[in-house]
Amino acid sequence: MGEVIATRWPPDAMAKTENESRPRIGVLISGRGSNLQSIIDAIAARRLDATIAVVVSNRADAPGLQRARDAGVDAIHLSPRGYPDRAAYDRALSDLLLSRGVSLVCLAGFMRLVGRPLLDAFPNRILNIHPSLLPSFPGLDAQRQALAHGVRVTGATVHLVNAELDAGPIVLQAAVPVLDSDTVETLSARVLVEEHRLYPEAIARVLESGWSVVGRRLVRGVAS
Ligand code: GRF
Repeated sequence: MGEVIATRWPPDAMAKTENESRPRIGVLISGRGSNLQSIIDAIAARRLDATIAVVVSNRADAPGLQRARDAGVDAIHLSPRGYPDRAAYDRALSDLLLSRGVSLVCLAGFMRLVGRPLLDAFPNRILNIHPSLLPSFPGLDAQRQALAHGVRVTGATVHLVNAELDAGPIVLQAAVPVLDSDTVETLSARVLVEEHRLYPEAIARVLESGWSVVGRRLVRGVAS
């Protein structure tokens, strides 16, 4: 049996200070930004007690940048083109997030693999949302994969990000039935409704104290 590694959650860096009473999150996007919008809306509706310190997109044309600006959130396009390799880009990204006092990073349709520099700067402090019930159908086109496989139930997963693609400890999942009449578009639309409900709830959950990562599991209670 493999070694069980226990990590206290949240780490000390996430502890609230007197000056900044709300945890500061950074959201990374590449496109539409509807999950970003669900986080913005949850904060506005006080279902999520956090501040979006910054939104960063690797793409200049990501519509999510405008969603952020419309909500009065600082939104930055950080192009990978200015950097010699992925590690250099990830270092710039983590420097930017750290400079904004970010303690939790939320990937919301961020279409890049997260490399070591970012993982090391935010250990167990990066979340991702994926449109399937992981570990089924990781990677691109998860809804298409689900239809092609013929599963009767798929869904959405929020998980902690580690070095493997869509493989970190699971925070929350929601199931969505697959209908005989479904196309990729209709199934994706129903999964997306669940994503928008799930992501803010998962963020709120990991911002609560008293969670531990034990092996692959996120469990209540602080590891000793
Ligand atoms: C979502 O389906 C999410 O699960 C996946 O990428 C899509 C992003 O959509 N990782 P949006 O940009 O949040 O609208």
